[in-house]
Order: sequence, then C-alpha cells, then structure tokens
Amino acid sequence: LKLGIMASGTGSNFVAIADAIAQHHLAAHIQVVIYNNPDAPVAQRAQERQIPTHLINHRHFSTREVFDQQIVDRLREADVDWVVMVGWMRRVTQVLIDAFPDRMINIHPSLLPSFPGIRAIEQALEHQVKISGCTVHIVRLEVDSGPILIQAAVPVYPEDTPASLHRRIQIQEHRIIVQAIAQLIQNRLTPCRQ
Ligand code: GRF
Repeated sequence: LKLGIMASGTGSNFVAIADAIAQHHLAAHIQVVIYNNPDAPVAQRAQERQIPTHLINHRHFSTREVFDQQIVDRLREADVDWVVMVGWMRRVTQVLIDAFPDRMINIHPSLLPSFPGIRAIEQALEHQVKISGCTVHIVRLEVDSGPILIQAAVPVYPEDTPASLHRRIQIQEHRIIVQAIAQLIQNRLTPCRQ
C-alpha cells in the first residue's frame, strides 16, 4: 500500500506508522509526508528516516481549494493510494475528497461523534466524561465526520489535565492507526459511500 501522510505537528503517529513499516509489521510504504507548518517536528522525523517531505504552507494560498489542489498534485506525483491524516489541523475541501474518495483516513482524539474539532480533549474534560479515547475514520467534508473504522477507549480520571489525558489517548492512537492501515492492506475495511 502506497501511503501519503498529512501532518501538522509532532508526528508521533507518523513515527508509529513508520516504525511498524520498518519492523515489517505493515506491508506499506510511505511515499511522502505533506506538512503545512514550517516548524512541524514531523518533517525532521521523516527526514531522519529518509522519507520524502513536502512543505505546503497554507499561508501562501489564497483559498482552501487552491491549497488542497497543491496537496493533491503532490500526492499524485508521489503515486499515493491512500492518504493518512495524523494531526492535520486544516479543514479539507471537496478538492481533496474528490481526488481520494473514500481513500483518506484521519485519527481524532475522542470517541466520535463526541467532540469533533480542535478542542476535543479539553471538551471531554469540561464535560467530565469518564471514558474517552480515539477514532480512526474515513474523511468526509464535515470536520471529523465519516464512517468510523476503529475506536479505542481510555479512562478519564478526576485529576487529569489535557496533557495527561492526551498522553493516555496517544498510546492508543499509535496502536489503532497501525491497526487501521493493516486492515486497509487486508482489504477488510470497505467503507460504503454515504
Ligand atoms: C493526535 O492526537 C491526533 O489525534 C490529533 O492530533 C494529534 C497529532 O499527534 N488530531 P502527533 O502529531 O501524531 O503526535
């Protein structure tokens, strides 16, 4: 499976995927890592592993559509089959969806459909939920929506801070993002169009 990764930040999920491939747990290849933030640590983590990276800075584009078209062009150039968003902090447009229909997955740090959007962890704490977790889903236009592929739950403790809850969730993220890709490879995840 030829993967394109899209990431904006730290890249710990990228590392989990890259390590699983390096250890032959996943029969996949990362063709390219697209990142939008010049300071994103994910870029260095990819370069250290000799994985090609492309910075596409959204600030240099007039519209979301033109930005997404540039991403599509890069992903196509890199001959990507599936797109994996791991902490991609931009809303996607129809341009990207149409280029990879049902061929993009995203990981989100909540049990969707609870708490979509960028404040998922803070909102879970504000609501005093007792269980949270993470979700891998097929990407649709609406933020953090689309058919759910895999979820994992974690307990939420009264003394949790956003950082402590995020750490607990990320341990599960690293597991289920690899599991989701493994299932794509085995073709066991066949989302139907909605
Ligand atoms: C993850 O928690 C993901 O769910 C969220 O952004 C974070 C990215 O983490 N959307 P990392 O960059 O993979 O470490």
